[in-house]
Amino acid sequence: MIRFENVTKIYHDTVYAVRDITLSIEKGDLCFIVGPSGAGKTTLLKLMFGMERPSRGTVSLFDRRTDGLDASSIQAIRRHTGFVFQDYRLIDDWTVYNNAAIMLEILGKPAVYIRGRVWRMLKWVGLQHKVYERARNLSGGERQRLALVRAIIHDPDILIADEPVGSLDEPMARYMMNMFLKLNRKGTTIVIASHRQDTLMEYAKVFRMEHGCLVEPGSDA
Ligand SMILES: Nc1ncnc2c1ncn2[C@@H]1O[C@H](COP(=O)(O)OP(=O)(O)OP(=O)(O)O)[C@@H](O)[C@H]1O
Ligand SMILES: [Mg+2]
Repeated sequence: MIRFENVTKIYHDTVYAVRDITLSIEKGDLCFIVGPSGAGKTTLLKLMFGMERPSRGTVSLFDRRTDGLDASSIQAIRRHTGFVFQDYRLIDDWTVYNNAAIMLEILGKPAVYIRGRVWRMLKWVGLQHKVYERARNLSGGERQRLALVRAIIHDPDILIADEPVGSLDEPMARYMMNMFLKLNRKGTTIVIASHRQDTLMEYAKVFRMEHGCLVEPGSDA
């Protein structure tokens, strides 16, 4: 589903965020990208989402090379992908409901379906009492849970999550990680970037990064 061949990403001509990475992620995989701060995890995920283009090498998403794709093809790929940003990227002036519903609205789902699905998902992450609150008024952990709902509400084929439990307390982090495992067992391909060890890594392919390089390329831990 995701293939990198000798991918390098350079910012400002001098910052090598990702260096010569070759990897592949197959349908149904559960993957972790681990490594210290600044190792290049977020950059790698953005390349997987078509948000950044490689400086060198090729990235293929859903068996299509991204270098030849126009904006609308990239959009089409994103409709099959959910992305949880490290900094959430919610729309602060919007309600929790509207933030959660946006992808279903873009996809043109019927209003009745959207209402039911949004309520169910918000309840499931314990945000049902915040449905009409503005996103700006949420706590860090609440924002993170909302970002997660927004990313998976359209049942994407791939979920890419950047430090998705970094702001959650231990029980909620556990709950979310188990939820990732459940989604994966239902067939969703999952890629999670994380600083910290997680028991879920037992079941996962683990890619370890340092200074932009893969030092442990996708071995099953
Ligand atoms: N848009 C950008 N412009 C310039 N430099 C960037 C940009 N994005 C990332 N970098 C640099 O690339 C390197 C890798 O950054 P990246 O955000 O991918 O690391 P990370 O592993 O996700 O770190 P963290 O664990 O702190 O989130 C860092 O040195 C960072 O400063
Ligand atoms: Mg990061």
